[in-house]
Amino acid sequence: MGRYRIGVATGAWLFSGSHNRVQLWLVGARGEARLELRLRPARGQEEEFERDVPKDLGPLQFVKLRKHHSLVDDAWFCDCITVRGPGACEEATFFPCYRWVQGQDVLSLPEGTARLAGDNALDVFQKHREKELKERRRLYCWATWKEGLPRTIAAERQDDLPPNSRFHEEKRLDFEWALKAGALETVLKRVYTLLSSWSRLEDFDQIFWGQKSDLAERVHHCWRDDELFGYQFLNGANPMVLRRSASLPSRLVLPSGTEALGAQLERELQSGSLFEADFSLLDGIPANVIRGEKQYLAAPLVMLQMRPEGKLLPVVIQIQPPSPSCPAPPLFLPSDPPLAWLLAKIWVRNSDFQLHQLQYHLLNTHLVAEVIAVATMRCLPGLHPVFKLLIPHIRYTLEINTRARSQLISEGGIFDKAVSTGGGGHVHLLRRAMAQLTYSSLCPPDDLAARGLLGIPSALYAHDALRLWEIIARDDVVRGDPELQAWCREITEVGLCQAQDRGFPASFQSQSQLCHFLTMCVFTCTAQHGAINQGQLDWYAWVPNAPCTMRMPPPTTKEDVKMATVMGSLPDIRQACLQMTITWHLGRRQPDMVPLGHHKEKYFSSPKAKAVLSQFQTDLENLEREITARNAQVDLPYDYLRPSRIENSVTI
Ligand SMILES: [Fe+2]
Repeated sequence: MGRYRIGVATGAWLFSGSHNRVQLWLVGARGEARLELRLRPARGQEEEFERDVPKDLGPLQFVKLRKHHSLVDDAWFCDCITVRGPGACEEATFFPCYRWVQGQDVLSLPEGTARLAGDNALDVFQKHREKELKERRRLYCWATWKEGLPRTIAAERQDDLPPNSRFHEEKRLDFEWALKAGALETVLKRVYTLLSSWSRLEDFDQIFWGQKSDLAERVHHCWRDDELFGYQFLNGANPMVLRRSASLPSRLVLPSGTEALGAQLERELQSGSLFEADFSLLDGIPANVIRGEKQYLAAPLVMLQMRPEGKLLPVVIQIQPPSPSCPAPPLFLPSDPPLAWLLAKIWVRNSDFQLHQLQYHLLNTHLVAEVIAVATMRCLPGLHPVFKLLIPHIRYTLEINTRARSQLISEGGIFDKAVSTGGGGHVHLLRRAMAQLTYSSLCPPDDLAARGLLGIPSALYAHDALRLWEIIARDDVVRGDPELQAWCREITEVGLCQAQDRGFPASFQSQSQLCHFLTMCVFTCTAQHGAINQGQLDWYAWVPNAPCTMRMPPPTTKEDVKMATVMGSLPDIRQACLQMTITWHLGRRQPDMVPLGHHKEKYFSSPKAKAVLSQFQTDLENLEREITARNAQVDLPYDYLRPSRIENSVTI
């Protein structure tokens, strides 16, 4: 009995408001009341109403909503509903929504306190969560995009996705505008270079204009330096391949006459300063054919030495692994004729581009995040604390991945048009990478230890990744329950196709095991994608530093490498323009980006959960200051894991 004050908040996105009439019920433990609000929600507004309810509803459990329409079903994006009362009671009860309200069905919003499943089937919240999951399992179905790869959401195109997984209008407009702007830039560059020659490295300057970053300029000037080549393995676009050598790789066959090199490698090995980047995963992957022209791939090995001051310098490059039918492959050295050494490094950069984009970017962040997203939607009801924790970290992921499958890695997509692994090789490579996708490879404390990259002052990615891992792990608070076990099984057995044998858990045995898994989920969807995605803009704009394709086979001798070999190997104008455009499109800061931990949606209502989020934000601010101070001391700032630059989910 008494007066209730009801606040209804509508999203600030374009088209969030609705011209349709919305009706509302308050449901308490002792009864429910239908309120004739006749609300027409306006974008970005919070509307308040007061209503007298003649009976005692008891503690509020749900708000029910229904949107009426006659001709046009004008979807409404409801943020949340708050109810104060009855009477002078100031305590607000909070009902998070953050969803589109469409159709004429009644939508029940439970009160925002996180709750685990109960065992009482008569419990109203239990009934609600079962109904919700049944509906979500109908909307979010698994599909197999390619055998041997993680399962994906069942959607051919973005229009097939459930409305709540779509881009908001602002994001969609920006994404599509950027694609058009990129296409226009490519056309202009093609026209501009129509009569130009393409025979010297400087000819790449003709297309090196338009959208580019300051670091890309620096790469443009210094890309030939061994120092910058080595630096990229630690802190570039792909810091994931490098490892400290535990022995000399068996594929490194040292021919006679290279005893001095052998002794040097042995010395570095003994002192723990020998590192390697091995691209064997590319060995035997079929290369693309672009517009009738065969493209080429290699599977290089680079050995590097770590200098006492922290610089990582290449010592030797073997472009192809030895094969029983061929003579031992040549070893390229810094002392070789400059063009031969440069071409060997270019081959490494091309191979790094392939593994970066397919294994470490697409598979290990985008597709893993998608598995987490689909399993979360199918297995965890909105009341579950882990749903509340993860939902901000899976925003837009299903749509960006669906678009990638229909435009980027599809038949005739960007990969087929410009990348040497396109035309099917990319799917082969993804399958091989999937076989290496272990649980520990997704968890920096394990992965960096296995790669011998702990405690290296110049390994900035490694340092920042560990700090972020600690912060994320500290701020998880949950305990196990049957819904979580089902969710874990869905990720490991269904989404990742029986990944138990690669270390992924099929159930949680302890609190700490669950916390580790959740940390992996949040880290992968946020920091790791940030580190892997953002470098594209800086390191891939100057195409010779990371060519998307190679148009001639790798050199087999050093003496024959001429400028014509280098230019004939590097991408042509069309391919290079496409690389610049697409890496700008995917690497630039997203206009509606939400920084890590700064989502506006309030899914949790308890003061304790709010305090955890606020502590998380404080920890991130402290790390931000630490990284800013560190970056002021180093020659090349490492910015990709600065918390304010990390997106809260995989959105691009
Ligand atoms: Fe991405």
